[in-house]
Amino acid sequence: MVNQEVLDAWLYGKKLECTAKRPDRPYRFILLGAPGVGKGTQAVFLSEKYGAVQLSTGDLFRAAKTTGGDALTPVMQAALDTMNKGHLVSDETVVDLVRERRDCLSSGYGFLLDGFPRTVAQAEALDTLLAEIGESLDGVLNYTLPTEEVVRRLSGRRTCTKCKRTWHVEFNPFRPGDCQDCSGEYLIQREDDQPDAIRVRLETYEKSTAPLAAYYEKTGLLYTISAAGTPEEVFARTEECLP
Ligand code: AP5
Ligand code: MG
Repeated sequence: MVNQEVLDAWLYGKKLECTAKRPDRPYRFILLGAPGVGKGTQAVFLSEKYGAVQLSTGDLFRAAKTTGGDALTPVMQAALDTMNKGHLVSDETVVDLVRERRDCLSSGYGFLLDGFPRTVAQAEALDTLLAEIGESLDGVLNYTLPTEEVVRRLSGRRTCTKCKRTWHVEFNPFRPGDCQDCSGEYLIQREDDQPDAIRVRLETYEKSTAPLAAYYEKTGLLYTISAAGTPEEVFARTEECLP
């Protein structure tokens, strides 16, 4: 039940004219948690079962890289260089991109914001944007996992540049026939999944993004979920939090 039109509008800035049936109960969640905790994996489960569209700012930057070519703007090129080293892209750039795509937040399908907001300044900008478009949040799913496990998940991850799905050399190996969209030939290791960049990302997460848990705790929207165990076990815990 993934809405491809909303996803294309988010990733490639395409015009949004959705005609497919909207879910009866559109969920609007933020997915929070360290790099590699499994946000993208849970977003796929949630999206397939409940129709809410995964809106990932990381996927947005990676899509610009594969489709932009010579047409990449200096701002986007700077964002990609920053990202490959594991640092955060500037708040201004990220907030501008999300603002340009605000129709994706009010499409009626619901949304799973994955990787945004990532700083308190971004969270404040999101509050303002949601108020402007008359939308609100159902909750913030905050996934937690010990650092050693996070590093294992990240270093073995392989990502499909075509369908964006993630696999894992040990925990979720790709087998021919697994994915009708990509057939395995587009699987790559992300540049920021190299050891140096992983270290920077984890440090950046602790400093800039972890404080968001306290930010959302105050609003009563925070659901903290252990990301240990299989993806299905984590999804079962996630579903217990759905209103
Ligand atoms: P982004 O793409 O958001 O990356 P991230 O937050 O670092 O998160 P990941 O995608 O690495 O991890 P995930 O939690 O989705 O894990 P996954 O499900 O793949 O951002 C990338 C960069 O973009 C940032 O560093 C920054 O530069 C920039 N950026 C993006 N947004 C920004 C913003 N708002 N502001 C500033 N800069 C921004 O799972 C990981 C692996 O584990 C997979 O291989 C998976 O198969 C496996 N796995 C998942 N669940 C399980 C499980 N339960 N058991 C075993 N294996 C599992
Ligand atoms: Mg991800």
